[in-house]
Amino acid sequence: MKKTIEQVPVDGKTVYVRVDFNVPLKEGQITDDTRIRATLPTIKYLLQHKAKIILASHLGRPKGERKMEISLAPVAKHLSQLLGQPVQFANDCIGNEVKAQAKALKKGDILLLENVRFHKEEEKNAPAFAKELASLADVAINDAFGVSHRAHASVVGVAKFLPMAAGYLLEKEIAYIGQAVAHPDHPFAAIIGGAKVSDKIEVISNLLPKVDVLLIGGGMANTFIAAQGYSMGTSLVEEDKFELARQLLAKAKEEHTTLALPVDFVVAKEFKDEADYKIVAFDAVEDGWMALDIGPKTIEKYTDLLAPMKLIVWNGPMGVFEMDHFAVGTNQIAKAVAQSRGTTIVGGGDSVAAIEKSGLADKISHISTGGGASLEYLEGKVLPGIDVLEEA
Ligand code: 3PG
Repeated sequence: MKKTIEQVPVDGKTVYVRVDFNVPLKEGQITDDTRIRATLPTIKYLLQHKAKIILASHLGRPKGERKMEISLAPVAKHLSQLLGQPVQFANDCIGNEVKAQAKALKKGDILLLENVRFHKEEEKNAPAFAKELASLADVAINDAFGVSHRAHASVVGVAKFLPMAAGYLLEKEIAYIGQAVAHPDHPFAAIIGGAKVSDKIEVISNLLPKVDVLLIGGGMANTFIAAQGYSMGTSLVEEDKFELARQLLAKAKEEHTTLALPVDFVVAKEFKDEADYKIVAFDAVEDGWMALDIGPKTIEKYTDLLAPMKLIVWNGPMGVFEMDHFAVGTNQIAKAVAQSRGTTIVGGGDSVAAIEKSGLADKISHISTGGGASLEYLEGKVLPGIDVLEEA
């Protein structure tokens, strides 16, 4: 067990909090503040405990350059609105000026540092840079699940110099995803979608022995079906993954795991929303047609399989959900997951977007704030940002 925020002394202390404020920006405006709101429980706890709070984050991938279009300044303003109190902003994350700002903080003050990736030492996990960051505070909290798969200075490096524990957001991710991977409730289903098998091989391999049911959707289902000798027309298939797909099918059989593949598809002649489309059985995809979504029989089958589950993990869309005509499968699976009486976990940018778009987010037990991080966690990898935390 890793230490959590309530297990480290924060009263009146200067607390460094690594957050993931890597939010989408359009012309300086934040278009989705989910990740900022997700850190509020940690920030509010620290405020209640009269801590002096120093927040550090990256934004985008500036590769060590100061790119002002991805400054965190708009985030300070936004956070201040969310909290109803001022949030100070530092023009850099290290150096004498920020040291002076940190020193001048009073109990209950908040200081957001400038984008840590403006320094190339961040991604290199340079000890001297981590030491500088750590020198600003007495204790450190990691509440940046989304970047906990990166061994960067502000995420893991600071832990060499300060005791570091998990914030509430990270604690929740560990409790849900970590628990699902290590000690899942049964029956347990995983729904894995997305375009390519190659992106999800490790997740499938890790989850296959743990789940009772594995539902495959999205473009990657095509590869599984084509690997068994069926024609998929002009659908996206990865021929170099046929052997792997066959191995996974055989492994599922061996483990007595239900590996469910689509029984029908929505097919079109062109990859565009206005294209003519029709529904065909999985073994009747004609030349010149491509599968862009799962069909109604598959939706019914998957919904039935999900109904008795005590635990469902979903990562990846069932079709080209950005196009309305091919979003039905993903939306219906979102509904089936939301209706479950079991624990439900949704991770990965696209499936989270689908759940949000369907208005069912509040019916899900846990929506992960991580994209790559939740994928790696589901792959069974040790995330360096979690590994580095103190043991309780
Ligand atoms: C994310 O958005 O997935 C995290 O903030 C990590 O960002 P990165 O992929 O640029 O490291």
